[in-house]
Amino acid sequence: MRVIQAMHTSMLCLLFITVVATAAAAGDKGRSSGQATLLDKKTEDRARYVIKIAGCNDCHTTGYAEAAGKIPEKDWLKGDAMGWRGPWGTTYASNLRLYMQKLSKAQWIKVSRSVEFRPPMPWFVLREMTEQDLRAIYRFIRNLGPAGEPAPAYLPPDQEPKAPFILFPSTPEPSR
Ligand code: HEC
Repeated sequence: MRVIQAMHTSMLCLLFITVVATAAAAGDKGRSSGQATLLDKKTEDRARYVIKIAGCNDCHTTGYAEAAGKIPEKDWLKGDAMGWRGPWGTTYASNLRLYMQKLSKAQWIKVSRSVEFRPPMPWFVLREMTEQDLRAIYRFIRNLGPAGEPAPAYLPPDQEPKAPFILFPSTPEPSR
Protein backbone atom coordinates (compact mmCIF):
# COMPACT_ATOMS: atom_id res chain seq x y z
CA MET A 1 0.00 0.00 0.00
CA ARG A 2 2.76 2.39 1.07
CA VAL A 3 4.74 1.54 -2.02
CA ILE A 4 1.79 2.34 -4.27
CA GLN A 5 1.21 5.63 -2.48
CA ALA A 6 4.87 6.57 -2.84
CA MET A 7 4.69 5.77 -6.55
CA HIS A 8 1.61 7.91 -6.89
CA THR A 9 3.29 10.81 -5.19
CA SER A 10 6.38 10.62 -7.34
CA MET A 11 4.30 10.35 -10.51
CA LEU A 12 2.34 13.41 -9.50
CA CYS A 13 5.60 15.25 -8.84
CA LEU A 14 6.87 14.31 -12.27
CA LEU A 15 3.65 15.46 -13.88
CA PHE A 16 3.87 18.76 -12.02
CA ILE A 17 7.48 19.33 -13.09
CA THR A 18 6.56 18.60 -16.72
CA VAL A 19 3.68 21.05 -16.65
CA VAL A 20 5.82 23.78 -15.08
CA ALA A 21 8.66 23.18 -17.53
CA THR A 22 6.29 23.30 -20.51
CA ALA A 23 4.74 26.54 -19.28
CA ALA A 24 8.20 28.09 -18.79
CA ALA A 25 9.26 27.06 -22.28
CA ALA A 26 6.09 28.57 -23.75
CA GLY A 27 6.79 31.80 -21.87
CA ASP A 28 10.34 31.95 -23.21
CA LYS A 29 9.10 31.42 -26.72
CA GLY A 30 6.72 34.36 -26.37
CA ARG A 31 9.49 36.56 -25.11
CA SER A 32 12.17 35.60 -27.59
CA SER A 33 9.89 36.27 -30.55
CA GLY A 34 9.68 39.90 -29.46
CA GLN A 35 6.15 39.79 -28.15
CA ALA A 36 6.93 41.36 -24.79
CA THR A 37 4.57 44.22 -25.61
CA LEU A 38 1.74 42.05 -26.91
CA LEU A 39 -1.44 43.43 -25.40
CA ASP A 40 -4.31 41.51 -23.95
CA LYS A 41 -7.72 43.15 -24.22
CA LYS A 42 -8.01 43.87 -20.49
CA THR A 43 -4.67 45.71 -20.30
CA GLU A 44 -5.42 47.61 -23.50
CA ASP A 45 -8.82 48.78 -22.23
CA ARG A 46 -7.39 49.78 -18.89
CA ALA A 47 -4.52 51.76 -20.45
CA ARG A 48 -6.85 53.54 -22.86
CA TYR A 49 -9.11 54.50 -19.97
CA VAL A 50 -6.25 55.73 -17.74
CA ILE A 51 -4.62 57.73 -20.57
CA LYS A 52 -7.95 59.35 -21.39
CA ILE A 53 -8.97 60.32 -17.88
CA ALA A 54 -5.46 61.32 -16.76
CA GLY A 55 -5.41 63.78 -19.65
CA CYS A 56 -2.13 62.65 -21.26
CA ASN A 57 -3.58 63.38 -24.70
CA ASP A 58 -4.59 66.91 -23.71
CA CYS A 59 -0.98 68.00 -24.01
CA HIS A 60 0.85 65.16 -25.76
CA THR A 61 -1.54 64.86 -28.74
CA THR A 62 -1.80 67.79 -31.14
CA GLY A 63 -5.33 69.16 -31.49
CA TYR A 64 -6.87 66.72 -29.00
CA ALA A 65 -8.80 69.26 -26.91
CA GLU A 66 -9.90 71.22 -29.99
CA ALA A 67 -11.25 68.00 -31.52
CA ALA A 68 -13.02 67.12 -28.25
CA GLY A 69 -10.93 63.96 -28.07
CA LYS A 70 -11.86 62.77 -31.56
CA ILE A 71 -8.35 61.98 -32.70
CA PRO A 72 -7.71 58.43 -33.93
CA GLU A 73 -5.61 56.34 -31.56
CA LYS A 74 -2.91 55.86 -34.18
CA ASP A 75 -2.21 59.61 -33.85
CA TRP A 76 -2.15 59.69 -30.05
CA LEU A 77 0.79 60.93 -27.98
CA LYS A 78 3.06 62.03 -30.85
CA GLY A 79 3.97 65.20 -28.92
CA ASP A 80 3.16 68.82 -29.65
CA ALA A 81 4.97 71.88 -30.95
CA MET A 82 2.95 74.22 -28.73
CA GLY A 83 5.34 75.83 -26.26
CA TRP A 84 4.51 76.33 -22.60
CA ARG A 85 6.41 79.40 -21.51
CA GLY A 86 6.76 80.44 -17.88
CA PRO A 87 9.40 81.12 -15.22
CA TRP A 88 10.79 77.61 -15.96
CA GLY A 89 11.56 78.48 -19.60
CA THR A 90 9.65 76.95 -22.51
CA THR A 91 8.66 73.29 -22.45
CA TYR A 92 7.08 71.10 -25.10
CA ALA A 93 4.97 68.00 -24.47
CA SER A 94 7.26 65.19 -25.61
CA ASN A 95 6.57 62.60 -28.26
CA LEU A 96 5.74 59.66 -26.00
CA ARG A 97 5.59 57.23 -28.94
CA LEU A 98 9.31 57.77 -29.49
CA TYR A 99 10.13 58.20 -25.80
CA MET A 100 8.75 54.80 -24.73
CA GLN A 101 10.89 53.07 -27.35
CA LYS A 102 14.01 54.17 -25.50
CA LEU A 103 12.96 52.81 -22.11
CA SER A 104 12.54 49.37 -20.63
CA LYS A 105 9.42 48.79 -18.57
CA ALA A 106 11.50 48.85 -15.39
CA GLN A 107 13.06 52.19 -16.37
CA TRP A 108 9.61 53.63 -17.05
CA ILE A 109 8.41 52.63 -13.58
CA LYS A 110 11.55 54.16 -12.06
CA VAL A 111 11.18 57.43 -14.03
CA SER A 112 7.49 57.68 -13.06
CA ARG A 113 8.36 57.28 -9.42
CA SER A 114 11.35 59.62 -9.27
CA VAL A 115 11.61 62.28 -12.00
CA GLU A 116 10.11 65.76 -11.54
CA PHE A 117 9.51 67.08 -15.04
CA ARG A 118 9.12 70.81 -15.67
CA PRO A 119 5.67 72.44 -15.75
CA PRO A 120 3.04 71.99 -16.85
CA MET A 121 3.78 68.24 -16.93
CA PRO A 122 1.89 66.77 -13.97
CA TRP A 123 4.66 64.37 -12.89
CA PHE A 124 2.95 63.99 -9.50
CA VAL A 125 0.06 62.23 -11.27
CA LEU A 126 2.46 59.51 -12.40
CA ARG A 127 3.51 59.01 -8.75
CA GLU A 128 -0.12 58.40 -7.78
CA MET A 129 -0.62 55.71 -10.40
CA THR A 130 -0.46 52.07 -9.43
CA GLU A 131 2.43 50.10 -10.88
CA GLN A 132 -0.10 48.01 -12.76
CA ASP A 133 -1.51 51.10 -14.50
CA LEU A 134 1.97 52.39 -15.33
CA ARG A 135 2.82 49.03 -16.87
CA ALA A 136 -0.43 49.06 -18.86
CA ILE A 137 0.31 52.55 -20.22
CA TYR A 138 3.81 51.48 -21.19
CA ARG A 139 2.59 48.42 -23.07
CA PHE A 140 -0.20 50.37 -24.74
CA ILE A 141 2.12 53.10 -26.04
CA ARG A 142 4.78 50.59 -27.12
CA ASN A 143 2.07 48.72 -28.93
CA LEU A 144 0.99 51.86 -30.83
CA GLY A 145 4.58 51.89 -32.05
CA PRO A 146 7.05 54.69 -32.80
CA ALA A 147 5.59 57.56 -34.86
CA GLY A 148 5.94 61.28 -35.47
CA GLU A 149 8.77 63.71 -34.92
CA PRO A 150 10.45 64.64 -31.65
CA ALA A 151 8.86 67.70 -29.99
CA PRO A 152 10.97 70.90 -30.05
CA ALA A 153 13.73 71.03 -27.45
CA TYR A 154 13.33 72.76 -24.09
CA LEU A 155 14.40 76.43 -24.01
CA PRO A 156 15.80 78.13 -20.90
CA PRO A 157 13.96 81.24 -19.56
CA ASP A 158 16.25 83.75 -21.31
CA GLN A 159 15.52 82.33 -24.77
CA GLU A 160 12.63 83.61 -26.83
CA PRO A 161 10.57 80.73 -28.27
CA LYS A 162 9.12 80.75 -31.76
CA ALA A 163 5.30 80.87 -32.01
CA PRO A 164 3.08 79.19 -31.09
CA PHE A 165 3.45 79.24 -27.34
CA ILE A 166 1.26 79.78 -24.33
CA LEU A 167 2.54 82.38 -21.91
CA PHE A 168 2.09 81.74 -18.21
CA PRO A 169 2.12 84.73 -15.89
CA SER A 170 5.11 84.93 -13.57
CA THR A 171 4.30 83.51 -10.19
CA PRO A 172 3.14 86.43 -8.05
CA GLU A 173 4.89 87.04 -4.73
CA PRO A 174 2.71 85.60 -1.97
CA SER A 175 0.97 88.48 -0.18
CA ARG A 176 1.40 88.64 3.56
C1 HEC B 1 -0.70 70.00 -19.01
C2 HEC B 1 0.04 69.34 -20.06
C3 HEC B 1 0.50 67.92 -19.85
C4 HEC B 1 -0.24 66.83 -19.42
C5 HEC B 1 -1.69 66.78 -19.01
C6 HEC B 1 0.66 65.68 -19.45
N1 HEC B 1 1.91 66.08 -19.87
FE1 HEC B 1 3.56 64.91 -19.98
N2 HEC B 1 4.69 66.52 -20.46
C7 HEC B 1 4.22 67.80 -20.69
C8 HEC B 1 5.31 68.70 -20.97
C9 HEC B 1 5.22 70.18 -21.28
C10 HEC B 1 6.48 67.91 -20.89
C11 HEC B 1 7.94 68.38 -21.05
C12 HEC B 1 8.46 68.64 -19.64
C13 HEC B 1 9.91 69.04 -19.54
O1 HEC B 1 10.47 69.53 -20.54
O2 HEC B 1 10.51 68.85 -18.47
C14 HEC B 1 6.06 66.56 -20.58
C15 HEC B 1 6.91 65.49 -20.40
C16 HEC B 1 6.51 64.19 -20.20
C17 HEC B 1 7.39 63.07 -20.09
C18 HEC B 1 8.92 63.13 -20.21
C19 HEC B 1 9.32 62.74 -21.59
C20 HEC B 1 10.75 63.08 -21.93
O3 HEC B 1 10.99 63.27 -23.13
O4 HEC B 1 11.58 63.18 -21.03
C21 HEC B 1 6.63 61.96 -19.91
C22 HEC B 1 7.11 60.53 -19.77
C23 HEC B 1 5.25 62.39 -19.88
N3 HEC B 1 5.20 63.75 -20.06
C24 HEC B 1 4.18 61.54 -19.75
C25 HEC B 1 2.87 61.96 -19.55
C26 HEC B 1 1.76 61.09 -19.24
C27 HEC B 1 1.85 59.58 -19.17
C28 HEC B 1 0.68 61.88 -19.05
C29 HEC B 1 -0.70 61.46 -18.62
C30 HEC B 1 -0.76 60.86 -17.31
C31 HEC B 1 1.11 63.27 -19.25
N4 HEC B 1 2.43 63.27 -19.57
C32 HEC B 1 0.30 64.38 -19.12
C33 HEC B 1 2.90 68.19 -20.61
C34 HEC B 1 1.85 67.42 -20.12
